[in-house]
Amino acid sequence: MDAARLQNWIWVGYADDVPLATTRIVHAGQGDIALFRAGQGRVYALLDRCPCHGRRLSDGIVMGVDIVCPERCVQVSLATGETQRGPAGYVPRYPTRIADGRLYLGLAALPRGEALG
Ligand code: FES
Repeated sequence: MDAARLQNWIWVGYADDVPLATTRIVHAGQGDIALFRAGQGRVYALLDRCPCHGRRLSDGIVMGVDIVCPERCVQVSLATGETQRGPAGYVPRYPTRIADGRLYLGLAALPRGEALG
């Protein structure tokens, strides 16, 4: 079985559907996954739940490659899922890839600490 299949990749739309500094939500079995286009235009995917009290991170503000929760107590790195400000915590991350303008999301969470490909 190829690696892409092991990651349970799904097509979620076109890359241009997620403009810079915006979010989009994908409803998945493990909970909503928020897609964020940030930094140099990369698309990041995190579980849409703040590690503090569970507010939707997709309602927050993208700052560089971080997302600031709407409650403003927690700032999470989109790249690592680790909190940068506020109580220590981690938000599960999911892999994304763009091929021929199409945006794919892997439904298998990345291991904590693993670098994005
Ligand atoms: S819910 Fe408390 S900072 Fe996000």
